Amino acid sequence: MSKEHNITLIPGDGIGPEVTTSARSVIEAAGVKVKWDVVEAGAKVMDEYKTPLPDYVLESIKKNKIALKGPVTTPIGSGFRSVNVALRQTFNLYANVRPIKTYEGIPTRYDNVDLIIVRENTEDLYAGVEHKIGDYAAESIKIITKEASTRIAKFAFDMAEKQNRKKVTAVHKANIMKYSDGLFLNCAREVAAAHEDIPFEDMIVDAMSMKLVQTPEKYDVLVMPNLYGDILSDMAAGLVGGLGVAPGANIGDDIAVFESIHGSAPDIAGKNIANPTAAILSGVMMLRFIGEMEAADKIDNAIKAVLKEGKVVTVDLGGKASTDEFTEEVVKKIG
Ligand code: NAI
Repeated sequence: MSKEHNITLIPGDGIGPEVTTSARSVIEAAGVKVKWDVVEAGAKVMDEYKTPLPDYVLESIKKNKIALKGPVTTPIGSGFRSVNVALRQTFNLYANVRPIKTYEGIPTRYDNVDLIIVRENTEDLYAGVEHKIGDYAAESIKIITKEASTRIAKFAFDMAEKQNRKKVTAVHKANIMKYSDGLFLNCAREVAAAHEDIPFEDMIVDAMSMKLVQTPEKYDVLVMPNLYGDILSDMAAGLVGGLGVAPGANIGDDIAVFESIHGSAPDIAGKNIANPTAAILSGVMMLRFIGEMEAADKIDNAIKAVLKEGKVVTVDLGGKASTDEFTEEVVKKIG
């Protein structure tokens, strides 16, 4: 009998409530006992709390240490910082792990992609050091430190070792940003030198973008600063069927928040057509993290089976199924 886990659940905005409800029911169907602490964040609480990230959300995560999160809308150009960036910085969730994997049955041009993007999650242009210069110019400062770069490189190599991955590629633009990206690259090289068992290479981000489109199967673990990780992970999601199937995790030393790569998708919110696969697979990553391996495998296999059959899939994958119908099919396969 597995123990009961206390987990914070943030439904979020847009399609967030739909896809997190799906993930929650699949996790429960796999027999995992969870006491969910459901806390609301994002645009929907702004009027009441005057912030998209009220203290009760932070307190719940601090207490439970594990959270499953839906996307939240970030108003562009308002004074509020992104809830995601704030969470990552508050809890020092320094590693953003985004597996990008082909699932049989999903219509794509590639059939052998198995990448893990490890994105530094706390600094770079996301450090929030930005100011206006009068009305006609603005500056954003890109911050790269030795501490954070070494920490993320170590994380990538440790993960590569544990998961038996074949190569680590550091992605950068050190030819132009000689100090900032140069420091990141040097840190990655130093860490690589201490892990001779794992092949290492580095690649400039523009070349990496092209190679990922041409020959994604040649790459494995990719480690990079924050902004490149943000962009390349959306692009890489496009290689395997889109944002609807791309999960993620934000991991720190003692707290982890699991969430899909996708945003709140206002264009399809409330229509019961969003693909919950990414949210469910983020749940699978969470279950592995908390040691619920058997349930994680059960869910992963059920997702694989439903996608492979291709009969009950959502609109983004060329099907007609609703979010609920897809969820029910996965639950059925869990048995
Ligand atoms: P988005 O990821 O929400 O949507 C991009 C496109 O992908 C849309 O056409 C959408 O319909 C589609 N899509 C996304 N997830 C899908 C799913 N599960 N199933 C089917 N189709 C899906 O990106 P967008 O539109 O740039 O951002 C919308 C809002 O989300 C913004 O306010 C943004 O700041 C926020 N956002 C939040 C994130 C988070 O909370 N982790 C991450 C990214 C964006």
